[in-house]
Amino acid sequence: MANLLVTGAAGFIGANFVRYWREQNPKDGIVALDALTYAGNAANLDGINQVDFIHGDIRDQALVARLMADHRIDTLVHFAAESHVDRSIKGPDVFIETNVLGTHALLKVARRHWLDSGSGQPHRFHHVSTDEVYGTLGRDDPAFTETTPYAPNSPYAASKAASDHLVRAYHYTYGLEVTTSNCSNNYGPYQFPEKLIPLFIANALHGRALPIYGDGQQVRDWLYVEDHCRGIEQVLRKGRVGECYNIGGGEELANLVVIDTLCAAIDKAFAHDPMLAARFPDSPAAEGKATASLKINVADRPGHDRRYAIDEKKIRDELGYAPAHGFADWFAQTLQWYLANESWWRSIMDGSYRSWIADNYGHRAGVAV
Ligand code: NAD
Ligand code: DAU
Repeated sequence: MANLLVTGAAGFIGANFVRYWREQNPKDGIVALDALTYAGNAANLDGINQVDFIHGDIRDQALVARLMADHRIDTLVHFAAESHVDRSIKGPDVFIETNVLGTHALLKVARRHWLDSGSGQPHRFHHVSTDEVYGTLGRDDPAFTETTPYAPNSPYAASKAASDHLVRAYHYTYGLEVTTSNCSNNYGPYQFPEKLIPLFIANALHGRALPIYGDGQQVRDWLYVEDHCRGIEQVLRKGRVGECYNIGGGEELANLVVIDTLCAAIDKAFAHDPMLAARFPDSPAAEGKATASLKINVADRPGHDRRYAIDEKKIRDELGYAPAHGFADWFAQTLQWYLANESWWRSIMDGSYRSWIADNYGHRAGVAV
């Protein structure tokens, strides 16, 4: 039995991880820590049994130290971060504060609690990172391996790279028992509707424009969030301390392919379920028109990485990981989740996020201001 402290547990991947872990490991203790920034939503944890939710900041060292002692934490899984590239371009400071200083605050507490106390307690600090730390690939370049040199291009990626280096340093210098995973683009339930897939689903259902950055030929490796959670579990159970593991979905797709898949899936859903037209009357699909008619080309994202691709040989060979969820099927499941959970994303889009997006790039997202 383990006692986990999960940071960023009310965000997209954190909440999916807590749900996954509770199902797989019903006897483990789980403390879910989250500052509930614009991206955090305590309701993402609704219906999960026996989770201690704590509203707090990873930079609050006294709080984290108390949680680690009171709950006898032996495993810390660190998701908390500012995670959206566009926001990091508009305002990088909070990315440094949370992703760099926040991770360092956690490392300091973990070191004091697990090492300086002299308890000799086996422990694990697992750091969740991104493939964006490796920079961008040309069309024919080999995929990222764990030894690809770091070359982050956005303030977000640079802040994650800095946090990765700190985690590594705490292992080599102090002996903290760490692992890191660098994964590709996740999709699935509870993803905040600022990222490509949930934003475009919500926009399409409202009849708003689908803003394609640049030529739309950028390539991402799409990973179903449950596969990511299973990959982290395998790293926690069998991964070698001090090592990094790349986790991918094995689904390299150009943005336009993802967007066309999304548009076609929405058209199909409306054709099969006449109730959708009544629920989403502003959608072109409600009038039998193609959702793809909402596509518009807009200015490219500054510094936009062209291609990410994951070479998952290390985690496959060492830990037996393989993604189980292909994009075609699991994108369709994901769309069904967003259709069935309209109140979840509508409450977010009608709240502070809506005014933020309108202020910052409403013209791009097609939000009526
Ligand atoms: P998210 O933005 O949906 O959630 C982040 C969560 O962290 C939110 O609940 C937020 O409230 C919380 N948080 C932010 N600052 C905090 C602080 N100071 N203290 C405590 N909590 C704080 O992000 P996500 O998509 O779930 O990503 C989770 C992690 O996975 C991040 O570290 C991200 O860099 C990494 N990652 C994400 C993806 C992806 O495709 N989403 C891919 C690779 C890596
Ligand atoms: O690769 C892992 C990373 O994936 C994570 O580390 C990040 O936290 C996560 O946000 C994601 O970063 P991306 O920038 O790749 O994701 P995003 O959903 O913002 O964009 C996906 C692609 O779609 C990217 O090429 C930009 C493009 N895009 C995005 C939006 C929001 C558009 O063309 N239009 C849009 O409106």
